[in-house]
Amino acid sequence: SGGKLWGGRFSDRRVDQVMERFNSSISYDKRLCYVDILGSKAYAAGLFKAGLVDQLECADICNALSAIEDEWRNETFEILPSDEDIHSANERRLKEMIGMAGGKLHTGRSRNDQVATDLRLWLRQEIDQSLDKFLVQIIQILIERAQDEMDILLPGYTHLQRAQPIRWSHYLCSYAWSLWSDVQRLIQLRDRVNVMPLGSGALAGSPFPIDRLYLSDLLGFDNITPNSLLGVGDRDFVVEFLSWASILSSHLSRLAEDLIIYSTKEFNFVTIADAYSTGSSLMPQKRNPDGLELIRAKAGRIFGHMAGFSMVLKGLPSTYNKDLQEDKEALFDVVDNLYVSLQVAAGILSTLKITAERAMGALSSDMLATDLAYHLVRRGVAFREAHAIVGKVVSMAEDQQKEMSDLTLEELQTVSSAFDSSVASIWNYEHSVEQYQVAGGTSRRAVQKQIDDLKALLELR
Ligand code: ARG
Repeated sequence: SGGKLWGGRFSDRRVDQVMERFNSSISYDKRLCYVDILGSKAYAAGLFKAGLVDQLECADICNALSAIEDEWRNETFEILPSDEDIHSANERRLKEMIGMAGGKLHTGRSRNDQVATDLRLWLRQEIDQSLDKFLVQIIQILIERAQDEMDILLPGYTHLQRAQPIRWSHYLCSYAWSLWSDVQRLIQLRDRVNVMPLGSGALAGSPFPIDRLYLSDLLGFDNITPNSLLGVGDRDFVVEFLSWASILSSHLSRLAEDLIIYSTKEFNFVTIADAYSTGSSLMPQKRNPDGLELIRAKAGRIFGHMAGFSMVLKGLPSTYNKDLQEDKEALFDVVDNLYVSLQVAAGILSTLKITAERAMGALSSDMLATDLAYHLVRRGVAFREAHAIVGKVVSMAEDQQKEMSDLTLEELQTVSSAFDSSVASIWNYEHSVEQYQVAGGTSRRAVQKQIDDLKALLELR
């Protein structure tokens, strides 16, 4: 165990090679190098404020930490086999640079409160710098298209069976709203990420007069963890983020599934741009929606990390256990895959071609059966009775193998005397959707209101 931070009490210096690899996290937690240094600089300032290092020592530590930061940036930082994790590596390098003063940095601090602090800083940065931005970008693409393509109608489905005509814009807005709820959830969970565990020590807190609120201010945290045992042992913020990511990725996955279906030759409503499609090595005619399929698959992978890490947590004794080291690969993999999914989704949505003739051509008058029943309701027939009458009309059209709209008034009147010539107004899809004026409905005005509301919400953020 030569060179280890904790080598002091160990006499047998032989290390099992497999165990060493098993225990080591540097290969992936080196991503925390910058936030680890950020946390250490703040901690040095905290030690100075508490009188545990003098001004010169504090300056030496901070300057050396800046130099180490440069090494990471220039990719000249040399990771040694004895560097177990990013915290050991940065501290080892610090001591190489400035000797004993570097050894003072860890006074009252443990890797337990250090790693929890680093991970929260890292996640906050990802939320602020990238995740929020990528999400908002997709919402913007959706509402821009919704504005431009307001005239396009297509079949709406329930159970994937043809249901009622809807506006394509109404469909696009439905996903914009889902993603907007993901933005809100992200903003809300950020409050619980942005709480500082530093000063919790290994588990019991600190016996030194470390000003935790001062540290928290320096690091831009909103608050400090209220209990040191919890501070080092809590990874709820990771589970909450992974759950958030699972919800978001299921939205992207459902959107992907819709577009995969709509892009089949059988539907042919939309065409995925070449940039996001692939061909077949065997079948020359193929055009596969691989981008969308991968978005769908990533949702499964992301959910897997959420479930997997929740299982790591569920049986743990309180405070820090090494099991918690598993938080990082789950979190990093989820963030990386979300980024790609969000960017590919944005690309696909902004280049997607909708073929209005195909989408509108797929409408058929049976999808107006509900409107026909409402027409009777407006003429005083009770809805249940109207439903039964129209059911008979539907089966009459089916028997005669023609569109419902091609039945003559005389034929309709054999089913119910409530029909008169005004029924002709029903057989118009634009007229159909325009009846759905209720807030949240598919009429032009109701969709415009959704677009305006979404725009205002995005601007207010
Ligand atoms: N690499 C560890 C982790 O990621 C840091 C904390 C280790 N602490 C300890 N006492 N072994 O969780």
